[in-house]
Amino acid sequence: MSTRRAVAATDSVSYDDLYRRWENAPWRATGIDLSRDVDGWRSLNDMQRRSGLWLYSMFLYGEDSVADNLSPYIDAAPAEEQAYFLTTQQVDEARHAVFFHRFFQEVIGVEGDTLADTLATTDEHLNWGYRGVFGRLDRMADELRRDRSLPRFAQAIALYHLIVEATLAQPGQHFIQDFFTGAGEMPGFLEGMENVANDEQRHIGFGVKCLADAFKETDECKAAVDEMLREVLPYALAVFVPPGFDRSYTREYGFEMEDVFAFALGSIKAKWRATGYPLEDRPPGVFPLDPTMDDDESARIVVALLEAGVMGAPNGRPDASAQTQEKFFDLVARSFDASLVASPPAPAFTVQWRFSDADPWHVRVADGTAQAVAGEASSADVRVQTDWKTWCDMSVRNASPVEAVLRGRFRPRGSPRALYELSRIAGTRFGVR
Ligand SMILES: [Fe+2]
Ligand SMILES: [Fe+2]
Repeated sequence: MSTRRAVAATDSVSYDDLYRRWENAPWRATGIDLSRDVDGWRSLNDMQRRSGLWLYSMFLYGEDSVADNLSPYIDAAPAEEQAYFLTTQQVDEARHAVFFHRFFQEVIGVEGDTLADTLATTDEHLNWGYRGVFGRLDRMADELRRDRSLPRFAQAIALYHLIVEATLAQPGQHFIQDFFTGAGEMPGFLEGMENVANDEQRHIGFGVKCLADAFKETDECKAAVDEMLREVLPYALAVFVPPGFDRSYTREYGFEMEDVFAFALGSIKAKWRATGYPLEDRPPGVFPLDPTMDDDESARIVVALLEAGVMGAPNGRPDASAQTQEKFFDLVARSFDASLVASPPAPAFTVQWRFSDADPWHVRVADGTAQAVAGEASSADVRVQTDWKTWCDMSVRNASPVEAVLRGRFRPRGSPRALYELSRIAGTRFGVR
């Protein structure tokens, strides 16, 4: 253990501070009085209880998963202080799981005695996006066991602390706390959630600091984190989609899906900025949205594209209406790095999409900006022939372009130079690998 590296003592928040905060904020998951919550739970209407089951199932399963998966992080942490903090975090996560388990048993009244019994009841509430993210967290723990390198550690911290905790859990906690603070009918639940949220804030602070340190050390950490984001963000965007896209799941708690997305976007943009590697600095194709766009506007677009089946769980029939195509191609154009086409010998670049089952669109890059336009371009450097579903699967669900080409469902045409240019400008999400 003495071979771990020393940490700089000059940074504003130190690992020692974070550890001290943990010692100063003890609480007992078994000490919270949930007896008054039973009536509070019964006083909720049917839809509120159904929505509660959906939300709390994600919390219980998530807390259990993060408690289970943290051990290899302790072993891989480059500094002793980081390892010590992570041991406190593992205790926290177990405590959170115990708290939600108690709530399921004592308030909701689920069958069975063990944590495994309660966990089994959550299964039906976990959607495609959720399983995608938590499946990746399981595999990441195994990868970190085999490879304790700093880039792998940074990648794992980014997934755990920045995606699972900061992007998914914290916004959910925020809105649930808001509702029950106003309703005042489940005091035990609210007390537990406040404690959980305080712990999570400390965990996220730790994750941000770890990443800031790792990014200072080597650019390999940035590349490793980008690779993980490219893979996981399509799932993360779809976690908060309620069953059957029934908006009453959030409305019964006093908020809209768009509110959660906008809150989450604003909050994670600030956290990535604090790591020293803001989302705005990512290569094209890593972040599927435009981080410079207003958060409310981004939220409206994401929810509309999720509802259209363009993003999120594959529904086999993504909507290809003019409005949906316009929203989507605007995102495509925004993701292009237009500065790469700003000067001769390539003063302009056009890519044309033709769909067997939807209207054609093209993106023209010139004078440092990329613009999406409906219809055929008079001339194009690259022409793509495909169908709407294949294009959605490839560009926002990480389906393999090679497989689509082999199956004859995706045909990019252009000179080798033009195809290379497209992958440079558009990256791997909307480009052609
Ligand atoms: Fe937790
Ligand atoms: Fe946590």
